[in-house]
Amino acid sequence: MRQRLVMGNWKLNGTKETVVSLIKAFAAEANKYDKVEAAICAPAIFIGLVEENAKGSRLAWGSEDVDVNNQGAFTGENSPVQIKEFGCKYAIVGHSERRGYHNESSEYVAKKFKAAQAAGLKPVLCIGESLEEFEAGKTNEVVDAEIKAVIDENGIDAFKNAVIAYEPIWAIGTGKTATPEIAEGVHKHIREYLASFSKEVAEGVQILYGGSCNDKNASELFQQPDIDGGLIGGASLKADKFTKIIEAAAALAK
Ligand code: PGA
Repeated sequence: MRQRLVMGNWKLNGTKETVVSLIKAFAAEANKYDKVEAAICAPAIFIGLVEENAKGSRLAWGSEDVDVNNQGAFTGENSPVQIKEFGCKYAIVGHSERRGYHNESSEYVAKKFKAAQAAGLKPVLCIGESLEEFEAGKTNEVVDAEIKAVIDENGIDAFKNAVIAYEPIWAIGTGKTATPEIAEGVHKHIREYLASFSKEVAEGVQILYGGSCNDKNASELFQQPDIDGGLIGGASLKADKFTKIIEAAAALAK
C-alpha cells in the first residue's frame, strides 16, 4: 500500500517570519496523522530555519533543487550533502521552472537525481508537458522521455527510493487544474510505463499530482487510484489551505 504524501513547494517565497509561522502550523497538523506524510520543500536559505521549527514533529522537509556537485568551485550552487546535513528528507529535481528558466535537460536532471540519492536524499522527479504538447496529444511521449532519461542514468530500481510528481506545465500557477480524469489517465500511463521495466517499482512508487492543486480540488484528485498525493505550490503558502489539503489526504488514507 502506497502512503499518501502531501508536499509543499514554496518556490522563491517567504520571509523568516512566514517560514516560522507556516512550519509551526504544518508541524502541528502533520502530528495529527500517522497514515499520511506531509512535507515542505523550502528555498535553500530557509532550510536551517525549517529544520529548527520542524524537528521532532512528523513534518518532513526538503530542498527545491540540488546541484550535481557536493563541493568545490561552483559558486551559488546547493550541495546535496550540505542540504542533507540540515535534516532534509527530499530534494525536488527537474521542476519545470528549472527545466525552463535554467535550461536543465532531462539528462542533467538524471544526474541531479543521482547526486541527491547518493547524499541520502529522496529525489522528487517532476515531469510534465507544455500546453502545446498537451494540445498536440504528446503528453505520454513527453513524460516517458523524462522518465527514461532517469532510468538510463540510474536504473529502474532507483525509483524504489524516489517520488514522481506529474505536473502539467499548463496547470502550474495558472488556476487551471487538470481534471481528475485527465490527471488519473496520465498517472495510470506513468505506472504502466514503469511496469514495462519493473512491476514491483511501478506498484510501489508514489506519484503526486501538481498544478493548481488546492484545498477545493485535492480530495477529488486524491481519490483517483493512481494519484498518491500532491505537490502544492501556491496553496502551500497559506496555512489554512495547506492544512486542509493534508486533512483531505488523511481522510482518504487507510
Ligand atoms: P501550483 O505549483 O500549485 O502553484 O500550481 C505547483 C508546482 O509548481 O509545484
